[in-house]
Amino acid sequence: NGYFTFDPGFVSTASCKSSITYIDGDKGVLLHRGYPIDQLANKSSYLEVSYLLLYGERPTPEELKEFVSMVSKHTMLNDQLVHLFQGFRRDAHPMAIMCGVVGAMSAFFHDSLDVGNPRHREVAAFRLLSKMPTVAAMCYKYSVGQPFMYPQNDLSYAENFLHMMFATPCDNYKPDPIIAEAMDKIFILHADHEQNASTSTVRLAGSSGANPFACIAAGIASLWGPAHGGANEACLNMLEEIGSVDRIDEYVAKAKDKDDPFRLMGFGHRVYKNYDPRATVMRETCHEVLDHLNIQDPLLDVAMKLEKIALEDPYFVEKKLYPNVDFYSGIILKAIGIPTNMFTVIFALSRTVGWIAHWGEMHADPDNKIGRPRQLYTGDDVRDF
Ligand code: CMC
Repeated sequence: NGYFTFDPGFVSTASCKSSITYIDGDKGVLLHRGYPIDQLANKSSYLEVSYLLLYGERPTPEELKEFVSMVSKHTMLNDQLVHLFQGFRRDAHPMAIMCGVVGAMSAFFHDSLDVGNPRHREVAAFRLLSKMPTVAAMCYKYSVGQPFMYPQNDLSYAENFLHMMFATPCDNYKPDPIIAEAMDKIFILHADHEQNASTSTVRLAGSSGANPFACIAAGIASLWGPAHGGANEACLNMLEEIGSVDRIDEYVAKAKDKDDPFRLMGFGHRVYKNYDPRATVMRETCHEVLDHLNIQDPLLDVAMKLEKIALEDPYFVEKKLYPNVDFYSGIILKAIGIPTNMFTVIFALSRTVGWIAHWGEMHADPDNKIGRPRQLYTGDDVRDF
């Protein structure tokens, strides 16, 4: 037992080397391939960031055009995969459907099972990046009993997702460009975050040589929990439960009460001990979207007041608990018309490129080994049967 480092939650264990994303949690810095997240969110597109994450450099205009064209070639799902949706209950959580459908893709793309081949890994990346908005939107359409909408490959990535979510065969839906831009920003802000639980899960699953679709399904499962990607859904539910600014003190008191398991959702982070830089961009985007749609959402007032109180309260100050990426995202998604149970699906869609970039980086690393942590055994000593 004495030979191993005991580090529950991997608080101080680096599980791998990576050149994709850098976080300085004390300073509130997040860089992808060296570029600050606020600059990427404000000056580039999700597919440009995806290229950067996957290939390590920003694309030239020609490279970006080729990349966008490749992504748009893989957006459809095999028709038999489409039938898989019918096996789910209509009231199934969309994350349950997404997890199942993405895992089932393993049965459709046999070339992607050859994970040792870099070209096959690249094709798997294209397939996943292209198909995730289709799968996500189908999870929604299935839950509301509407027909699936085919992707329209002349639309941008975010527009296409909005089209598949909100168009129906009987209308002429056109995505609002400001909303599409906000959606794209949300995708960028969730694209990667180094060795979080879901990315570590993808790496661990992939370290055995498992196929990429199964690995991403594992990542989706890990993301689902409320301490991770499920926090955006839990945060909006919490804001709705608080309901008005005069009830905030009661909830702050609950969050501080050690006998009460309640936590302020959208607050705190394992790595950030400063303001999450993604939350800053998310808050700005939230104001832009609500102004554009001319929505006065009382939940935004609750969120802003809650943030102010928490940032001044000694409990939150001492524990360095700041709003994280999930704090404002739900208010934007709600304003766009996306139901709460789809929030984590959108997180999964956005994070897929990060997962795939890490999976690819792991396979390209000659030092890659199967992940195999040890344990501290606490059971019985040897005894006779
Ligand atoms: N509300 C109240 N107290 C909190 C909160 C919170 N949201 N977060 C942490 N604390 C307290 C916690 O009780 C503990 O206190 P003490 O030291 O007295 O026992 C201390 O702060 C440290 O918390 P921890 O749980 O040991 O920290 P962790 O690094 O293991 O957990 C976390 C990080 C994100 C799971 C946690 O802060 C949390 O549960 N936050 C709410 C859920 C949430 O918003 N998750 C989204 C994270 S960002 C998106 C993503 O990347 O997934």
